[in-house]
Amino acid sequence: MSMYDDIEKILISEQELQDRIAELADEMNAFYTDADRPVLVCILKGAFMFLADLTRHLKFRHELDFMVVSSYGRSTKSSGIVRILLDLETNIQDRNVIIVEDIVDTGRTLSYILRHFHARHPASVRICTLLNKPSRREVEIPVDFYGFKVPDEFVVGYGLDYAEEYRNLPFIGVLKPSVYTM
Ligand code: PRP
Repeated sequence: MSMYDDIEKILISEQELQDRIAELADEMNAFYTDADRPVLVCILKGAFMFLADLTRHLKFRHELDFMVVSSYGRSTKSSGIVRILLDLETNIQDRNVIIVEDIVDTGRTLSYILRHFHARHPASVRICTLLNKPSRREVEIPVDFYGFKVPDEFVVGYGLDYAEEYRNLPFIGVLKPSVYTM
């Protein structure tokens, strides 16, 4: 069976994603200047595709860096325990930082990352997430830029996985419950 058969419906099409990401980039273009020279920190693995599309629309000078973060023992729900598997290369002291995420769900991952970053005394830290699922929030997170609010459904595609699959789908889809209740 094809992975496309595991998708119940397309929540956000490829075109809708691309249009909104261009708009979101313009919001950021209006906010940051060359002098700010922010570091965009891509939280892997989920945000890889979003970062790649977003950065191509940004007009201000910026740097890119990557962090590999994982919620330990995650199944279909966030466990709240965060592990940093690969840390930043950049020294973010006195730098403007933009954290790029695919989704903010409970907020626990970002809450942990924010604490970790603030200890390094950056000039500013802002959050840019493609998807925002406020109905599931357990920790308050200051989301500065986001693409779409999504309902409490199991979303995959465009970087987001279930059991490491579906990240390559060019759209955001809802997974059939039969796939993860098996
Ligand atoms: C996902 C996502 C966020 C986090 C959001 O990462 O990329 O980092 O969960 O959930 P939260 O707001 O409830 O903490 P995941 O641990 O699945 O790793 P991945 O990015 O490698 O898929």
